[in-house]
Amino acid sequence: MENMDGPRVTECERCPALVESRSRIVNGTGPEDADLLIVGEAPGEQEDREGEPFVGRSGSELDEKLREHAIPREEVRITNCVRCRPPENRDPTKEELENCRGYLEREVDIVDPDLIMTVGKVPTEHLLERDVAVTKEAGTVEERRIGETSRRVLISVHPAAMLYDRSQEETLDATIGEAASLIGADGNGNDQSRLDSF
Ligand code: URA
Repeated sequence: MENMDGPRVTECERCPALVESRSRIVNGTGPEDADLLIVGEAPGEQEDREGEPFVGRSGSELDEKLREHAIPREEVRITNCVRCRPPENRDPTKEELENCRGYLEREVDIVDPDLIMTVGKVPTEHLLERDVAVTKEAGTVEERRIGETSRRVLISVHPAAMLYDRSQEETLDATIGEAASLIGADGNGNDQSRLDSF
């Protein structure tokens, strides 16, 4: 059975393993007209408990980096490729990603963001539909059709990566700086998005 309310999924039992491991469906949060949509992989333990994406340690790192670049989290839409916590935090399978794809596409269509930022390998490869060396390609923008429209996708490392390897902090920092500049939130008194000129 499946049920949706706008960009929210209220009922779904397509992935038996995830139905078993989840406590709840974790939908995207943030304004439905946000300029920036951040897409992660899947909820972790904390997200499953609280019912909100990126509220654990990676979430705090992400929030801090956003704040440093004058992008308040409240102004950003944050969601995941897969809305249910996988068992033992394993990566979602191809089938699980496909099962959840329509929900993500619907959310992208509704939010209609100026920019999508994918954090980490799984969401980046899922949306760009190719192999990606995330650390090498972080900070680059690529255009892809997602749902009904062609979208600009900015590749980012996952904030959890910098918890293990501090050198990734610079990469994340530069990428979020790029996002701020692309959506016109870079605090330089320039409220015109650089995307307007594309
Ligand atoms: N990592 C993700 O990819 N998504 C979350 O919601 C939390 C951590």
